[in-house]
Amino acid sequence: MAAPLCIPPQHSLQNQNKYAKSFTKHYNFQFLVTRNPPSTLFGLQSSNLGVPRLSNQAQSLINSTPISEVPLLSREEAIERLRLSKERHKGKQQFLAMYCSIFGGITTDPAAMVIPMDDHMVHRGHGIFDTAAIVDGHLYELDQHLDRCVRSATMAKIRLPFDSETMRNILIQTVIASKCKNGSLRYWLSAGYGNFLLSPSGCAEPTFYAIVIQTSASQPDHKGVKVITSSIPIKPPVFATMKSVNYLPNALCQMEAEENGCFTSVWLDTEGFVAEGPNMNVAFVTYDKELLMPRFDKVLGGCTLKRMRTLAQELVKKGDIRGVSTRDVTVEEGKRAEEMMLFGSGVLVRPVVQWDDKIIGNGNEGPIARALLDLLLEDMISGPSTVRTAVPY
Ligand SMILES: Cc1ncc(COP(=O)(O)O)c(C=O)c1O
Repeated sequence: MAAPLCIPPQHSLQNQNKYAKSFTKHYNFQFLVTRNPPSTLFGLQSSNLGVPRLSNQAQSLINSTPISEVPLLSREEAIERLRLSKERHKGKQQFLAMYCSIFGGITTDPAAMVIPMDDHMVHRGHGIFDTAAIVDGHLYELDQHLDRCVRSATMAKIRLPFDSETMRNILIQTVIASKCKNGSLRYWLSAGYGNFLLSPSGCAEPTFYAIVIQTSASQPDHKGVKVITSSIPIKPPVFATMKSVNYLPNALCQMEAEENGCFTSVWLDTEGFVAEGPNMNVAFVTYDKELLMPRFDKVLGGCTLKRMRTLAQELVKKGDIRGVSTRDVTVEEGKRAEEMMLFGSGVLVRPVVQWDDKIIGNGNEGPIARALLDLLLEDMISGPSTVRTAVPY
């Protein structure tokens, strides 16, 4: 299936209006426009002439904010303001292309890269997501991430809007439209849009969104970092093992680390075993040279760590480590390790040199972490076709 590409010009008002019309037709957006005005909308009353009047109750609620300061916008004005706001708040990341199943196409205008309020992923957190890195014009581990995405969707009872081959095709076409050679692809499946109820049974259809983000090309950082044990409760296994959009515990876990001057926090599971970080897995190298990973049944099965299990066989062959094992890891065992490291699509491989007050190993970045990072980087630029999908730009 070919995803149509709609590129709204940035400056032509005529074309912007045309785009705005199709945008609002496909989205169930309710801008406060004067066309067929509802009699009341959040306390605002519209006269037939389109001039808003306020109910007494609404007036008293907002008497500290004169309504004249809150403009009533046409859809064109709202979209123009979105565009200006995006331009004003340009961060380090650039959003190059977005696919949206509601409008059934791809846009390259960041102002149009929005999703409707009535999508259950927005107001109920009923959505799942996944990612894939774009490296040198290839998608790294696209199929592995897509498989996990489908598993997460099944666990979250989200019906797939397309079969996985079509989803894969849409993702590749979105990357083609973005022209991005190095960056990241993120995509979401939502229970659907159409109302603000809890059950998605009344939703029009499940939705699929994808976005391509340009990241500044920088060398991966292999400097050792400090981590702390998180005081934020870990998600129960059924939620930790699916990649849902409910990342509030993860965000708080990360903020706790930053407030304490650390790179990230590490969760323990309810039995006190080492679990994972908020967007990364952890692993250790013991003094008798075992690469040790906590079990995956209570944490997100990281694609990076799973790939590492294969790549690390190189180090086994060379005699640098004696094997790779996956089992319960106690905090004492982890803190006693010769090396500790973080794994994930974002961090790649990051050595940990201190966990809480405990210095790990000799306090320096270890050789196994470095060797694993090199193996991963090599795999990302020249690995087999099972992990590298060439994007036909
Ligand atoms: C909670 C959590 N654990 C682990 C990972 C690492 O997974 P991956 O290697 O697939 O990026 C992530 C990545 O997003 C995550 O969010």
